[in-house]
Amino acid sequence: MAVTVRPLTEAVGVEILGVDLTAMSEAEFAAVERAWHEHSVILLRGQRLGDDDLLAFSRRFGELDPPPNQERGRISPPGYPEVYVVSNVLDGNGDPIGALGAGEAVWHTDMSYLDAPPDASMLYALEIPPSGGNTWFCGMQAACDALPADLRRRLGNRRVKHDGTYNSGGYLRKGVTPTDDPFAAPGAWHPAILRHPANGRPTLYLGRRRNSYIEGLSRADSDALLEALWAHCTQPQFLYEHVWRLGDLVMWDNRSTMHRRDPFDGEARRIMHRTQIKGSGAPIAYAA
Ligand code: OGA
Ligand code: MN
Repeated sequence: MAVTVRPLTEAVGVEILGVDLTAMSEAEFAAVERAWHEHSVILLRGQRLGDDDLLAFSRRFGELDPPPNQERGRISPPGYPEVYVVSNVLDGNGDPIGALGAGEAVWHTDMSYLDAPPDASMLYALEIPPSGGNTWFCGMQAACDALPADLRRRLGNRRVKHDGTYNSGGYLRKGVTPTDDPFAAPGAWHPAILRHPANGRPTLYLGRRRNSYIEGLSRADSDALLEALWAHCTQPQFLYEHVWRLGDLVMWDNRSTMHRRDPFDGEARRIMHRTQIKGSGAPIAYAA
């Protein structure tokens, strides 16, 4: 069966049809990788993957990164330290088997508080609630292309501080001192506008709103510019809302997208297994 690619929205994402991820030829993989480079989010439905299959597919893109430090540290299935569990389900001791609970996960891109964040992350849906828990993606290349001139001018070639204190569920990362001061917070500095190393196009790189700060501005001016940038990026024309089905695999580019998750009923079960592809290096400025 031939590989077909169907746009999910104009701004971001494609669905790839006709591929079984457990039996993918080199030519099929090349088509999948090309679609990911061009469209930043890829969706493959109806997959049947064990953790070994998930890892084998992930490794075709390169070396893997360890999971992020979340509210309860790093939680992985036994024997699979590279797999990160996103789940609200409780184990026999009443402890969550994964991260992020059942609440909203606010807009973010993964692990941008590191100097070299993972290029990509992917989620594979093992259990999904009857409603809620949709994952939204924001196309940051489209948002960057449409950036109003005054915002572009105010941003210049500045860098942004990305916070490492809280995760997108609002939880404090394990072992980190709580703070709302971006200067005191652990984190990393990255250019606000990156050059995507694979497609060469500019992309806005904002990370998370909380404890974010734009270099060289007063705190008030930084907050005002951040509010304007976030309001611009999260407009509907840049978004794709993913409604999960069992067996969905969604992979996204952390450099050129942001994502968030809707809350869902905490009594329902949601289990996702995630991997993260190691960064090809620190993000590079578009206008270096
Ligand atoms: C993630 C994440 C959202 C979701 O795994 O990085 O943000 O929908 N997950 O579970
Ligand atoms: Mn995430």
